[in-house]
Amino acid sequence: MDEKLKEDDKFLKIISLCKRRGFVFSSSEIYDGFAAIYDYGPYGVELASNIKKIWWKEMVQLREDVVGLDAAIFMSPKVWEASGHVKNFSDPLTECKKCHARLRLDSLLEDVGVFADEKMTDDEINKIFSQNKDKVKCPNCGASDFTPGKKFNLLVQSNLGNFTNDWEENPVYLRGETCQGIYVNYKNIVDSSRVKIPFGVAQIGKAFRNEITARQFIFRTREFEQMELQFFVKPGDDEKYFAQWKKIRFDFYLKLGFKEENLRWHQHENLVFYATDAYDIEYNFPFGFKELEGVHARGEHDLGQHMKFSGKDLTYLDPKTGERFTPHVVETSVGVGRIFLAALSDAYCEEKTGEDDTRIILKLSPVLAPIKVAIFPLLKNRPELVAKAKEIFDELKKYWQCEFDDNGNIGKRYRRQDEIGTPYCLTIDFDTLEKGEITLRERDSMKQEKMSMENLLNFLQKKLI
Ligand code: GAP
Repeated sequence: MDEKLKEDDKFLKIISLCKRRGFVFSSSEIYDGFAAIYDYGPYGVELASNIKKIWWKEMVQLREDVVGLDAAIFMSPKVWEASGHVKNFSDPLTECKKCHARLRLDSLLEDVGVFADEKMTDDEINKIFSQNKDKVKCPNCGASDFTPGKKFNLLVQSNLGNFTNDWEENPVYLRGETCQGIYVNYKNIVDSSRVKIPFGVAQIGKAFRNEITARQFIFRTREFEQMELQFFVKPGDDEKYFAQWKKIRFDFYLKLGFKEENLRWHQHENLVFYATDAYDIEYNFPFGFKELEGVHARGEHDLGQHMKFSGKDLTYLDPKTGERFTPHVVETSVGVGRIFLAALSDAYCEEKTGEDDTRIILKLSPVLAPIKVAIFPLLKNRPELVAKAKEIFDELKKYWQCEFDDNGNIGKRYRRQDEIGTPYCLTIDFDTLEKGEITLRERDSMKQEKMSMENLLNFLQKKLI
């Protein structure tokens, strides 16, 4: 049945499920929302937190060559001058002359099948634009009359610590990528811990970009959370570690149970200003294959620039060989919201269960599922069943995020849990009271089996690691 689900419909259905079941809300919704900003609701915050936990486990906990960091969102504005973001971090902007909508020019061209990207110069992209002007229509009003494309810087500015009215002269920036916090702390980490090259620093945190068009739900937002790893290597070892990290990151999604046919590699032809090689892992979102994660070889660009601008020595002295060099960087970078949307797209399915009945299921990996186990007393009006179910709920919630539900008939309770991706439901009935047996129901197969409490704990421990 799922194959029949049209991709457009699927995207709308996922958005609707997110709102209906408390995964994602528009920011400031009672004030009609705030463009390209979203809030994560009760189940959304669990899913996002599980994404971050598994990423941290794989990237830091299970590795001996990676340490963590949590740098502040605000940094000296000099960081962004040194990194090149003040000058180069921009997208091409055009304005519809009729309705004055501001639009991303490379996206407009891409939508009509013309290759363009944000790294082109104004002249390059405007040349392509004028050759294809007739094809491009304003998505807002349908007109075909635009201003020439012009680079628009994506850094978000603030007046932090500036108490004058002309703070825009010397703005402080909200970080546009989290990794700059890693570069500026690179020396602190080398000096204070026992890391030796090659080693990595991982970080999860908010980033901000003044995205021009951001109409793809949580795919592209102006405030988002990034999970980035910067792996410092000896110059010349870049290629070896780049290949290793590409494999590790692709396998990460396969381990999460993402369908392999929904993942592919895309090599950048036009490199962003800091990269010497770059690949994206693309995911087949309901609106097509798009960037999920970036794996970039950044060479010595970042440490080199920070040495130049700060005047501090960020070279590395190899304790074994006595060699001194500026480390090169291999980076992996992904947005939590991107994995969130890819996970929902991969997991969403509908099964026809009767003439007028459809079961909506999120077939999420148990690692990602917001609720791992739901516990139901068979009947709400039998205090002995409710008390036993509460007792089991109180025991299981020590280990996993669980939910107690005694509302409506059992069939409806199962459906509610299917829709949020809960892998296991437990029903507490008279057999539980008399024989200590619990009915365990599995989400995808809907198979039910009776189990003792002891076997149940062993079973869940194996399935929910
Ligand atoms: N430090 C490198 C860097 O930031 P990027 O390709 O600009 O590279 C890396 O971003 C990842 O961050 C993307 O692959 C995507 O997962 C996520 N990302 C970037 N911009 C985003 C946005 N506006 N909204 C949500 N996620 C975003």
